[in-house]
Amino acid sequence: MQKLPSSPTSIADFALILRAGGLVAFPTETVYGLGADAGSSEAVLAIYEAKRRPRFNPLIAHCADLAMAETLAVFSPLAKKLAALWPGPLTLVLPKLPGAPLSDLVTAGLDTVGVRIPNHPMALELIALTGRPLAGPSANPSGRLSPTTAAQVVAGFGGTIPVLDGGACAAGLESTIIKVDGDEVVQLRAGAMPRTEIEAVLGRKIGKASGHEGIVAPGMMASHYAPRALLRLDAISPADGEAYLAFGQAPHNWRGPMRNLSASADPREAARNLFSMLHELDAAGVDTIAVAPIPAAGLGEAINDRLARAAAPRDLTHSG
Ligand code: TXA
Ligand code: MG
Repeated sequence: MQKLPSSPTSIADFALILRAGGLVAFPTETVYGLGADAGSSEAVLAIYEAKRRPRFNPLIAHCADLAMAETLAVFSPLAKKLAALWPGPLTLVLPKLPGAPLSDLVTAGLDTVGVRIPNHPMALELIALTGRPLAGPSANPSGRLSPTTAAQVVAGFGGTIPVLDGGACAAGLESTIIKVDGDEVVQLRAGAMPRTEIEAVLGRKIGKASGHEGIVAPGMMASHYAPRALLRLDAISPADGEAYLAFGQAPHNWRGPMRNLSASADPREAARNLFSMLHELDAAGVDTIAVAPIPAAGLGEAINDRLARAAAPRDLTHSG
């Protein structure tokens, strides 16, 4: 058997680890992923164990190109239209192709599969060199904030998982998840690709999941993406003892811990900073992080979604 690199440096080294059934963290344009060969149940099981993630919560299969994605899922003409947005921060939940080279642990036994082609050159090269789709949840212990830097991944797993460092993630929020079922298109998770952009390509409105689709949709569990501190949302100003996460104009004379998601009130910049700044304020050790109101339009939908989940009552055993 080929000897595996103990401290991988090149992308080829990381691909070797994946081909041998190991786990590696890799950068994408949204957040860092925790990757494993999606065809190996043993490797995928190691993801669930490392994250302490409930096994009924399915994983996204990351592909290098459309040809690879078509070995996993059935693409209707409608799905093909949406696939034109790849590579990008969009996950399509589609009917699983019978005989797809996928462990049932990836789909958690569902007859659908979540597929995406990430828009990050290192991720694409890693998948292509591995030659297999990669199962890849966000590279955080279940229930914690998604990592947008390699250092956050290292901190989350205590340095036990090799991390391919691609710098800070450009989008900073997870992908938007869209389920295509026949003629129906619903959004299961708001994310880094604004719904309006997807609707423009589709030429029609997309519904939001109402919960009766029978999806085990996990990013949909109320408590998710939680920092240790509690969150107080729509806070015009911070109170004594709190940290403050501002948006736009920051309060004058505030001496407590503070970050500004975007001084110019730019939603893209705010999305990119959201998880990192929550990580940083959380590290300040306060009990409560007060968060400024964020307008709901465009990316604001996903930002407010993540904030609401981070503020929800915690049940760490049921988050992903
Ligand atoms: O941006 C992202 O999507 C990142 C990067 C690494 O690609 N990944 C990510 O994975 O956020 P994860 O596992 O943290 O969230 C994936 C979500 C989960 O909520 C899961 O339930 C849902 O996708 N999902 C995956 N397959 C599904 C399926 N067949 N049906 C319904 N939901 C599915
Ligand atoms: Mg996650």
